[in-house]
Amino acid sequence: MVEVFSSWWTSHLHQHPRWLVGLFTTRRTLVFLLWIVGLVMVFWWQSTSVVSIVFFRWRVVAPQPDSVMRAAVFNLTDFGAVGDGKTLNTGAFERAVVEISKLREKGGGQLNVPAGLWLTAPFNLTSHMTLFLANGAVILGIEDESYWQLMPPLPSYGYGREHNGPRYGSLIHGQNLKDVIITGHNGTINGQGHSWWTKYKKKLLNYTRGPLVQLMRSNDIVISNITLRDSPFWTLHPYDCNNVTVSNVTILAPVTGAPNTDGIDRDSCKNVLIENSYICVGDDAIAIKSGWDQYGIAYGHPSTNITLRNLTVRSVVSAGVSIGSEMSGGVSNVLMENLIVWDSRRGIRIKTAPGRGAYVQNITCQNVTFHNLRVGIVIKTDYNEHPPGFDPKSLPIIKNISFVGIHGHDVLVPVRLHGSEEIPIKGVSFRDVSVQSSYNKHVFQCSYVEGRAIGPIFPAPCENLDIYDEQGNVVMRSESQNKTNIDYRI
Ligand SMILES: *[C@@H]1O[C@H](CO)[C@@H](O)[C@H](O)[C@H]1NC(C)=O
Ligand SMILES: *[C@@H]1O[C@H](CO)[C@@H](O)[C@H](O)[C@H]1NC(C)=O
Ligand SMILES: *[C@@H]1O[C@H](CO)[C@@H](O)[C@H](O)[C@H]1NC(C)=O
Ligand SMILES: *[C@@H]1O[C@H](CO)[C@@H](O)[C@H](O)[C@H]1NC(C)=O
Ligand SMILES: *[C@@H]1O[C@H](CO)[C@@H](O)[C@H](O)[C@H]1NC(C)=O
Ligand SMILES: *[C@@H]1O[C@H](CO)[C@@H](O)[C@H](O)[C@H]1NC(C)=O
Ligand SMILES: *[C@@H]1O[C@H](CO)[C@@H](O)[C@H](O)[C@H]1NC(C)=O
Ligand SMILES: *[C@@H]1O[C@H](CO)[C@@H](O)[C@H](O)[C@H]1NC(C)=O
Ligand SMILES: *[C@@H]1O[C@H](CO)[C@@H](O)[C@H](O)[C@H]1NC(C)=O
Ligand SMILES: *[C@@H]1O[C@H](CO)[C@@H](O)[C@H](O)[C@H]1NC(C)=O
Ligand SMILES: *[C@@H]1O[C@H](CO)[C@@H](O)[C@H](O)[C@H]1NC(C)=O
Ligand SMILES: *[C@@H]1O[C@H](CO)[C@@H](O)[C@H](O)[C@H]1NC(C)=O
Repeated sequence: MVEVFSSWWTSHLHQHPRWLVGLFTTRRTLVFLLWIVGLVMVFWWQSTSVVSIVFFRWRVVAPQPDSVMRAAVFNLTDFGAVGDGKTLNTGAFERAVVEISKLREKGGGQLNVPAGLWLTAPFNLTSHMTLFLANGAVILGIEDESYWQLMPPLPSYGYGREHNGPRYGSLIHGQNLKDVIITGHNGTINGQGHSWWTKYKKKLLNYTRGPLVQLMRSNDIVISNITLRDSPFWTLHPYDCNNVTVSNVTILAPVTGAPNTDGIDRDSCKNVLIENSYICVGDDAIAIKSGWDQYGIAYGHPSTNITLRNLTVRSVVSAGVSIGSEMSGGVSNVLMENLIVWDSRRGIRIKTAPGRGAYVQNITCQNVTFHNLRVGIVIKTDYNEHPPGFDPKSLPIIKNISFVGIHGHDVLVPVRLHGSEEIPIKGVSFRDVSVQSSYNKHVFQCSYVEGRAIGPIFPAPCENLDIYDEQGNVVMRSESQNKTNIDYRI
């Protein structure tokens, strides 16, 4: 093209005055210049895309550099650890923690766990510590229980729960700590729970199994950007803690045959946020607790100010979110929003019984979606599983529980509120509920329930509730709050 244009220009040059010739030569130069510029631009574009491909490859191949969150940073290998999945690295973790504990006046330290399989027995964390699990880093809990230290029972439980006397401690443990972060680029803490579950089922264990991560009486805890899996018992157990954030974690265990592998048990904790996480385990995905019967009442530390948001949870044997059954220190001010519960036995369950005392109060659930459950919302007041010596006259109060924006499909029984004469359920409210039931009767079951159904509710609310219109005006007051139509056949 350029060649053709050039010859056309040259063939016309001779018939024109000099000034024109000058113009044409400049035009010719101009075209040539444009041509060069075009070539350069094409070349530049190609070379930058080459650079970006190389850059992209480098990004994918090279490991992400660990984020630095503290002034002092250590590598687990500096303490003699070997990531072959066979060498026991307890000593390396302990030496690292001792080093970091010396820096508590200087902002603490970060321990980087590189990619590899790091077998260890239980160890303790320290204050002002960041445990950082690189992509591909796996901390493996040793299976031989003789390495697991025994600890005194939790005061609000009285004894070890499954057995009298002491209990196994947790794989990663801490007491009376402040400012602890467990994070990373999605590294994993793996409890290798299979051997524990098998021994538990064969009744070979003499003590209650230990959790995967347990922090007791600690403040300012962040757990984020990691995966926790196959815990021997409950997975993440903050006990009597204040200011705990769990964000962007994945918690996994087999959905059946992994007894008591709850995802997160907030136990007598206040100011807790759990968000942006995926939990699929062998028991409750999330449980909110505060101690067991007379021991919990005596300890008296409630779980309060708890927010759960943007979670996807699954529990084939139990519930997506449970409050109780151990709630004897009280549970209040819980907000759950933007939750999805799928392929589970139950969606949201509050469970208690005479003997548990205290209260479950001020609970709000909004924008919750259920996919394929047996029961959606459950309140159960006869969950009788008590330690010896409990006082059946200690009656819990269940009050102010609201459900707004509850949707779903393939739920056999969307709502089952089982209050009793001793423990009536008070102040429940439902607004904007539409859950498609695959069963054609008893889909909104109630017993001893006082509360309101506001605006359109599907399935039609039980007769126990007062009916309000969307503007909040009473349409019909119930005269059968104590009526019972609970049907456990489904
Ligand atoms: C930690 O040490 C190991 C072995 O020396 C090394 O491969 C890894 O890159 C180190 N990680 C960091 C973050 O320094
Ligand atoms: C961990 O800390 C607890 C409480 O401070 C203590 O009883 C236990 O012995 C410690 N465990 C280890 C392995 O140091
Ligand atoms: C969640 O964690 C992964 C790694 O575990 C990280 O790549 C991602 O950016 C995190 N997302 C948020 C919102 O923090
Ligand atoms: C983290 O790892 C788990 C388990 O391998 C995986 O299911 C999850 O999707 C990963 N999370 C992110 C944010 O990459
Ligand atoms: C449990 O106790 C019995 C009897 O003392 C003992 O033989 C067994 O080894 C113990 N099992 C474990 C796992 O500690
Ligand atoms: C809660 O803990 C976080 C993380 O350590 C900290 O940044 C924040 O200041 C704490 N909040 C309060 C109210 O102490
Ligand atoms: C999780 O990882 C993402 C991406 O690396 C980072 O931006 C975010 O701050 C991390 N979140 C926490 C709470 O550490
Ligand atoms: C509740 O806890 C959150 C942190 O999860 C905190 O920001 C907030 O201030 C607390 N609210 C009250 C009333 O203590
Ligand atoms: C919700 O959580 C998921 C991880 O489970 C995350 O990928 C997503 O970004 C979160 N959404 C919001 C709005 O934070
Ligand atoms: C409701 O929750 C879903 C899924 O958890 C989320 O995608 C959606 O943005 C939420 N809606 C509102 C209004 O927050
Ligand atoms: C429940 O909320 C009400 C009204 O906001 C408040 O007065 C009451 O103290 C709360 N109950 C508990 C146990 O926090
Ligand atoms: C319903 O039962 C409660 C006790 O739980 C009782 O106080 C109340 O009077 C009963 N209401 C009716 C209408 O019978």
